[in-house]
Amino acid sequence: MEENLMQKITALAKRRGFVYPGSEIYGGLANSWDYGPLGVELKNNIKQEWWKRFVQQRSDVVGIDAALLMNPKVWEASGHLATFSDPLVECKECQRRFRADEIDESTISQRKPRNDESKEWIIVGAWRCPYCNAENTKNPPRQFNLMLKTFLGPAEESANVVYFRPETAQAMFVNFKNILATSRLRVPFGIAQIGKAFRNEITPGNFIFRTREFEQMELEYFVQEREWEKWFDYWLGEMKEWLYKDLGISESSVEFVEIPEKDRAHYSQRTIDIEYKYPFGQKELYGLAYRSDFDLKNHFQEPPYKDPETGEASYPHVIEPTWGVDRSVLAVLLDSYAQEGDRVILKLKPKLAPYKAAVFPLVANKPELTKKAREVHDMLQPRCMVAWDDRGNIGKRYYAQDEIGTPFCVTVDFETLEKNDVTVRDRDTAKQERVSLPDLPAFLMNKIYG
Ligand code: GAP
Repeated sequence: MEENLMQKITALAKRRGFVYPGSEIYGGLANSWDYGPLGVELKNNIKQEWWKRFVQQRSDVVGIDAALLMNPKVWEASGHLATFSDPLVECKECQRRFRADEIDESTISQRKPRNDESKEWIIVGAWRCPYCNAENTKNPPRQFNLMLKTFLGPAEESANVVYFRPETAQAMFVNFKNILATSRLRVPFGIAQIGKAFRNEITPGNFIFRTREFEQMELEYFVQEREWEKWFDYWLGEMKEWLYKDLGISESSVEFVEIPEKDRAHYSQRTIDIEYKYPFGQKELYGLAYRSDFDLKNHFQEPPYKDPETGEASYPHVIEPTWGVDRSVLAVLLDSYAQEGDRVILKLKPKLAPYKAAVFPLVANKPELTKKAREVHDMLQPRCMVAWDDRGNIGKRYYAQDEIGTPFCVTVDFETLEKNDVTVRDRDTAKQERVSLPDLPAFLMNKIYG
């Protein structure tokens, strides 16, 4: 992948209203980003497709939308307060602070296991700073908790400390009994949620790849212990379908990586990371974890599930496929970016594109064409997002729509006035065809969603 693709995507995102630097007029804020008019459409389309596929079109999954702030006991029980941390190092020379995994392994003189039970290795010897190359001998990494803290109520004292959720998952676990009581679900079944999560990341960066505030789409799928492997494979298959069919990501852009025990999250007994080949390296896009009965056991003293047939009480086990929304947006932008000469095309799946069609009068100075084109625009607008453009020449308007991924451009010309048909131009093939106006909505809807 092209090295400067990230710069191109970031510049395009800002220029065309997908993503702006957060708090920009005040100099920004620590790699925070705001989605603009086109970005919010792309992001919402991804979330809607996900919700349709994994919640609405299944009878074994239900959704929730829980509070961002939860009782701190949730995070005590889940293990996040004790163990949700990254190793942080500070270079004595340049004073830079960064994650220990940024250190070049070949420069580390000595490591040891974190403790007797752990297979995780920590640095105890010297290491070289990846930024200024200074040798550091007396400052091994220390664990830095990633939970983002705030206070509830007027007094900023320890009794009022709460944490923004670092994952949406825990709300699915703590509501487990509520959901059973208000539904007819039985194992296997899933609970899904889309929402914001917060982590006090040591080094956010790479545009919307790693931020301190981000969005997740998560699904906790509850199964019988003896069936966890079968369901793990099943969800891996579902995640592949989502990537290739719904997002249109090419198979060559992703790798499925089995995560060794020492690198897995504290709750996981098996993890596969779905990694994307970003221009800055191959890194996590999504994850699939077998969380066993870790979470339900930590939250419920008594087994929270009773088999409706046998009456047997148990702690169901959990398979968790998890998807980052912002990383989905990034991967989709990167994967769909194409350049043909000076023409930039975002080859987005039509159902993900912000605008499904753009309508133009062939020329702007003929009132009868503009009037007819407005009618066509207004006819389409209740069905889908549709853009309007009457500036400059038609070629420039096509290019402007290509750059934001609009799959179809509809031109109203003099023939339209006589024959009641329009020219529809396809973004990817640049082919044009005449379509009669009464057929136009069905023609487009079929191409976009069919
Ligand atoms: N409930 C499991 C969980 O939270 P995770 O791998 O830590 O697992 C899930 O996070 C997904 O959330 C990741 O695969 C990634 O897409 C997204 N994600 C995690 N941290 C992120 C960050 N700092 N910025 C943007 N997205 C992030």
